[in-house]
Amino acid sequence: MEVEMNISKKKTSFEYTEVKVISNINLQGDYYMLKVEAENLEQQPFPGQFYQVKPLTINNNISGLGRILFKPLSVYDYSGNSLSFMMKVIGSGTYDLSTMIKGDVLAIYGPLGNSFINDDSYTANLKKKKRAVLISGGIGYAPLYYLHKKLLEMDINHHWLHGGRTADDLFDADYICTDDGSKGSKGFVTNCLDLFFSNHQDQISQVYCCGPKPMMKKVYQIAECFGFPTLFSMEEYMACGIGVCLGCAVKKSKSYCDENAYMMVCKDGPVFEGKEVDWDE
Ligand SMILES: Cc1cc2nc3c(=O)[nH]c(=O)nc-3n(C[C@H](O)[C@H](O)[C@H](O)COP(=O)(O)OP(=O)(O)OC[C@H]3O[C@@H](n4cnc5c(N)ncnc54)[C@H](O)[C@@H]3O)c2cc1C
Ligand code: FES
Repeated sequence: MEVEMNISKKKTSFEYTEVKVISNINLQGDYYMLKVEAENLEQQPFPGQFYQVKPLTINNNISGLGRILFKPLSVYDYSGNSLSFMMKVIGSGTYDLSTMIKGDVLAIYGPLGNSFINDDSYTANLKKKKRAVLISGGIGYAPLYYLHKKLLEMDINHHWLHGGRTADDLFDADYICTDDGSKGSKGFVTNCLDLFFSNHQDQISQVYCCGPKPMMKKVYQIAECFGFPTLFSMEEYMACGIGVCLGCAVKKSKSYCDENAYMMVCKDGPVFEGKEVDWDE
């Protein structure tokens, strides 16, 4: 369901900011890195948070009125001067974003949602143990990069496993694999998890994951067997982005069922503990 957002620059609750594109690079295959100026942004984003974005100009022309929806994109990187989004072209919205050039204007609002990193006591806890594990599939790489950067800054030891369908879906990580064996090990990223978790059983403090839902379900099941806490960034299809249309609903795990059996990715997430989610839905 496509819903027109009633977002105006003048309204306070969903005020968007206009930012200029610094660069937009095709990384490989359908993947792009869109970098925009961030000086006008009031808030610093945290890992796992996202922005709703929409091109106001494309190739320095006013963008077409037919494509009116804002699209959610995770923070890939943020430096104070610039904000980067890593994108995979899926349909018309991400296609438009991929064709923006230097000097084009992007409307963005955010940062939205919760974060992988909750507060100081959380990171202190994380530091006590020895290792966090990041697991991504395909464009699930995007939100984990900023987390990786923050973990490095906080001196938290971590290991990153990344899988893709083909070599085009691969990016830098400690362990890489492809479904077709075109680069890295052959097979799903989850194939090596049992062994990896067994080898580091006493050290792992937290598992972070983003990728296709079947992959995340498998990661949850394996991590659960080892008793590791898990955090997942869910990238359900979004329409309104503000908790109104219920388009991004994720079913709550039965053990968590109270009066609200569903959680909204846009409003309650996008980061959820693995045990909160009903993975059979
Ligand atoms: C919180 C959040 C963070 C995200 N972060 C990123 C990011 O950093 N980089 C990135 O490239 N993408 C990210 N996405 C996904 C991205 O928002 C969608 O790919 C995009 O909105 C698709 O819009 P479109 O107009 O290109 O395609 P559409 O025309 O809207 O969709 C094309 C087809 O893909 C399906 N589809 C669209 N979105 C999804 C989805 N999320 N999951 C499964 N199927 C889908 C549609 O049902 C349709 O069949 C994120 C999504 C969420 C909810
Ligand atoms: S996108 Fe509409 S409720 Fe989340």
